[in-house]
Amino acid sequence: MAAERLTIRQPDDWHVHLRDGAMLAAVVSDTARQFARAIVMPNLRPPITTVAAARAYRERIQAALPDGCTFTPLLTAYLTDTIAPAEIAAGFAGGVFTACKLYPAHATTNSAAGVSDPAAIAPVLETMERIGMPLLIHGEVTEASIDIFDREAVFIERHLQPLLQRHPALKVVLEHITTTDAVDFVRSAPANLAATITPHHLHINRNAMFSGGLRPDFYCLPVAKRELHRLALRAAAVSGDPRFFLGTDSAPHGRAAKETACGCAGIFNAPWALESYVQVFDQENALDRFEAFASVFGPRFYGLPLNEGTITLEREPQLIPAQLHRNDAAGRAIELVPFHAGETLPWRLATPLLRGVAAG
Ligand code: DOR
Ligand code: ZN
Repeated sequence: MAAERLTIRQPDDWHVHLRDGAMLAAVVSDTARQFARAIVMPNLRPPITTVAAARAYRERIQAALPDGCTFTPLLTAYLTDTIAPAEIAAGFAGGVFTACKLYPAHATTNSAAGVSDPAAIAPVLETMERIGMPLLIHGEVTEASIDIFDREAVFIERHLQPLLQRHPALKVVLEHITTTDAVDFVRSAPANLAATITPHHLHINRNAMFSGGLRPDFYCLPVAKRELHRLALRAAAVSGDPRFFLGTDSAPHGRAAKETACGCAGIFNAPWALESYVQVFDQENALDRFEAFASVFGPRFYGLPLNEGTITLEREPQLIPAQLHRNDAAGRAIELVPFHAGETLPWRLATPLLRGVAAG
């Protein structure tokens, strides 16, 4: 008989957008009730480019958490064309920066100050390589002439491959991979290249954005690709290969910012992230490999200790609400549409890490 309960070591989220201000207060518990640690993305306004800004952001995250919560945010530096290697090295040595994030300029939300050419920041990458600091990459080219569905594959060929050749010892995570090209490239590369996989890219293909009308809630970057790519991502996630691990890329935008003439990219999957992932492992008959993907391969790659505690998921259907109503500190409403809105998910987190904080 299929397992009814699954207990695993406490997982971590190796890629999340916690935002700032009112949105931070509205969403941080979704992540903290499931994950012991999370790699927090630095694409704020303004982006996190200094140790001082990261320290202050970490304090704001901690202040937004419920009392007694042990969640650990792991911060990242936002690479620009002019960021100083010494700033990054100081942040890493001081335990403030865990990694650096490379956004190609104009690739996605708040990436205007990103890197114009990865080859031009060689001194930064050399420093990171020397000190063992991971580089996290949004792997898409941005040229208008390149089809949006090809941007990841072209980035790998034009930028990632040469970058790994120039910096053979650099630890690199290709974030939120979406294609067979990325899966194959990671598989064939040395062990210092890994990749995160989101729940949404495991569940949806590009049809989701257009099914019965235009569906902004399924628009994210990199955009979901063809079905064959989704199937390759599922195979990679459940394969037991340590170079593929969990990173939700949960990216909340208020409903009004999604449903507008120029809607923001991002899927808010944090509230039921574990349930979303475990369903995929269950469907692929790979529940026995879920713990490694969610709780082991990430920390091993980052050189961090595994979490000690456990969490338990149980097979119990739950209906995901069509939207979530959250309040900011001043009582103003924030409306968010969660991933899987209106669906019934077959699994439920039975032992949330924050007592008294329900999902949704
Ligand atoms: O869909 C996305 N949303 N992709 C990104 O790369 C950024 C993120 C965001 O910050 O909204
Ligand atoms: Zn992201």
